[in-house]
Amino acid sequence: MAARVSSLVALLMYIGIPVQCLFLEPDQSLSIPDGWTFMGRLSASENVTLTFALKQQRVDILQDLVERISDPDNPLYGRYLTLEGVSSLIEPASVTQTTVQKWLQKFGIEDCQTVQTLDFLQCSMTVGTAEKLLPGSKFGRYVKGEQSIVRSPVPYEVYEELSDHIDFVGGLHRFPMERKVLSRGWGKPQPPKGTFHLGVMPSVIRKRYNLSDSDIGSASNNSQACAQFLEQYFHQHDLADFMHIFGTGFKHRSNVDRVVGPQEGPKAGLEASLDVEYIMSTGANISTWVFSNPGRYESQEPFMDWLLSLSNMSSVPWVHTVSYGDDEDSLSVAYMERINVEFMKAAARGLTILFASGDDGAGCREVSKGIHTFRPSFPASSPYVTTVGGTSFKNPFLVTHEVTDYISGGGFSNVFPMPDYQVPAVMHYLKTVSKLPPNSYYNASGRAYPDVAALSDNYWVVSNQILFPWVSGTSASTPVFGGILSLINDQRLQKGLSPLGFLNPALYKLQSSENSTALFDVTVGCHLSCLDEKVEGQGFCAATRWDPVTGWGTPNFPQLLKAFLPK
Ligand SMILES: *[C@@H]1O[C@H](CO)[C@@H](O)[C@H](O)[C@H]1NC(C)=O
Ligand SMILES: *[C@@H]1O[C@H](CO)[C@@H](O)[C@H](O)[C@H]1NC(C)=O
Ligand SMILES: *[C@@H]1O[C@H](CO)[C@@H](O)[C@H](O)[C@H]1NC(C)=O
Ligand SMILES: *[C@@H]1O[C@H](CO)[C@@H](O)[C@H](O)[C@H]1NC(C)=O
Ligand SMILES: *[C@@H]1O[C@H](CO)[C@@H](O)[C@H](O)[C@H]1NC(C)=O
Ligand SMILES: *[C@@H]1O[C@H](CO)[C@@H](O)[C@H](O)[C@H]1NC(C)=O
Ligand SMILES: *[C@@H]1O[C@H](CO)[C@@H](O)[C@H](O)[C@H]1NC(C)=O
Repeated sequence: MAARVSSLVALLMYIGIPVQCLFLEPDQSLSIPDGWTFMGRLSASENVTLTFALKQQRVDILQDLVERISDPDNPLYGRYLTLEGVSSLIEPASVTQTTVQKWLQKFGIEDCQTVQTLDFLQCSMTVGTAEKLLPGSKFGRYVKGEQSIVRSPVPYEVYEELSDHIDFVGGLHRFPMERKVLSRGWGKPQPPKGTFHLGVMPSVIRKRYNLSDSDIGSASNNSQACAQFLEQYFHQHDLADFMHIFGTGFKHRSNVDRVVGPQEGPKAGLEASLDVEYIMSTGANISTWVFSNPGRYESQEPFMDWLLSLSNMSSVPWVHTVSYGDDEDSLSVAYMERINVEFMKAAARGLTILFASGDDGAGCREVSKGIHTFRPSFPASSPYVTTVGGTSFKNPFLVTHEVTDYISGGGFSNVFPMPDYQVPAVMHYLKTVSKLPPNSYYNASGRAYPDVAALSDNYWVVSNQILFPWVSGTSASTPVFGGILSLINDQRLQKGLSPLGFLNPALYKLQSSENSTALFDVTVGCHLSCLDEKVEGQGFCAATRWDPVTGWGTPNFPQLLKAFLPK
């Protein structure tokens, strides 16, 4: 079959009919991230699975709808769509579907699966077929430690007529991002005594954020989830052990209700354990799911698979926390814009999506010899997600007020313009803060993040039946904030109200009142950045009200609940 088609193309070219091709992602970075070793080209008979992102319709209407349903002052606030409703809005035109299908069929590609919204196709094919389908592509195997993946880090093209019907093809370029929690100690631990605490545990979180023992979930239709990637599994017995040690005083669950994707692997990951243990002890007694996307085949992009799952399930939890991020400058704009639409789809359904802001402060990138800029991270920089930064206790042994955790990711997107909902808050910061980095380091017109923060330093985690201290990073603060929002959803659902959905427009509106006490403002400390002479390792600094280090601050549960629970 494939041979016949390639000869058809050859024939067309032979008789002088031009076969025009175009690059779909001309700006995608093709560099191979550190640590990956090229093991050679694949043979033509090996298999790959590629994901085709089909062009959607009426994205402008979706965008307008999201703006209305997430604005508390709009009559449409909270009137969310079902997945079927989203589908009927954005589903690719039939000409798109048939053009893509015919193209794939011509190459003999038949092993394809779609999603409910019909805007993704995932197809298996041999390498020989893939390399003919996407001229330019050359698949090779890359290994790093025990991971082995298949990628084609060279530009690929599609026939010109296809470029109107496909946003990008997944499974060629993007290498899996490593997500690592940090482990920071400060020398010898001191024995806990009196009101002292030694590290962050559920009782400390609940105390700091003003959760009483009775602040737990009880709505039977409430739910929350965390997404995990790569070789990250949680183990049910670690969760049970964790709850046994730390879950005293408040009613909670000790079991994950549903794992979407493969179940437990041989070894639990520290990040995976952290997510589940903290979302379930903050959003206590709330049904919890885990989306597990651990690289089932070598050409998989785990993050894409998570998005595909959301578009293929009519009923998913209301709150999702994700600790995953890539440098904006390593991704094509076509890819980021499409992923952004996926977040709009989630917002239209009333889902709350929280991303960790990252653990590199403002980040740093060398533009040319000796010239640096900050390095924003995506999806943290998407205007359609709520991004969570990190804080530490002023006194690490006491439940005191919080200061900036210097690792807290934050800054300004170079891709997404600043959304209207945050303009006054960000302008206030830029106008009033006492010191800003040189403006060549950041793009003050971009989407600024994070939106909020929570403690990110010095957590206790049980993983592989071992109790780990000093686990740190915004991967810790994100499930905590997620659990808090789930508790608010719980009260709303019990009152027959809609869940919070995409939080940012309502959050920035709430905080525009000078008197809001819903979040504890974090005003002390700066995060890290380039170690050069101009900025000397310092990025932005926290300030009164919103700032690009800790956003609006950390949750004061009773006040946040009150603000989002109309009488
Ligand atoms: C590729 O997939 C086909 C059908 O799914 C299978 O029969 C074949 O054995 C696979 N080839 C390799 C090299 O795994
Ligand atoms: C979407 O769900 C359907 C029905 O459960 C399934 O057959 C299909 O394989 C799924 N699509 C993907 C891409 O996994
Ligand atoms: C919440 O915590 C803060 C600081 O710990 C405290 O000042 C405040 O009174 C508490 N209660 C409420 C309802 O805000
Ligand atoms: C825990 O949640 C369930 C619903 O999921 C509810 O029936 C039960 O009453 C809750 N437990 C407590 C102690 O509130
Ligand atoms: C700054 O951000 C805007 C979008 O907000 C973008 O159009 C522009 O290209 C960015 N500038 C740089 C230097 O990246
Ligand atoms: C959730 O359940 C409550 C009853 O416990 C009901 O009033 C509410 O409408 C339900 N909400 C949704 C979104 O299903
Ligand atoms: C906010 O505080 C000011 C005084 O500081 C007061 O006049 C005003 O009514 C308060 N607004 C709200 C919404 O509570």
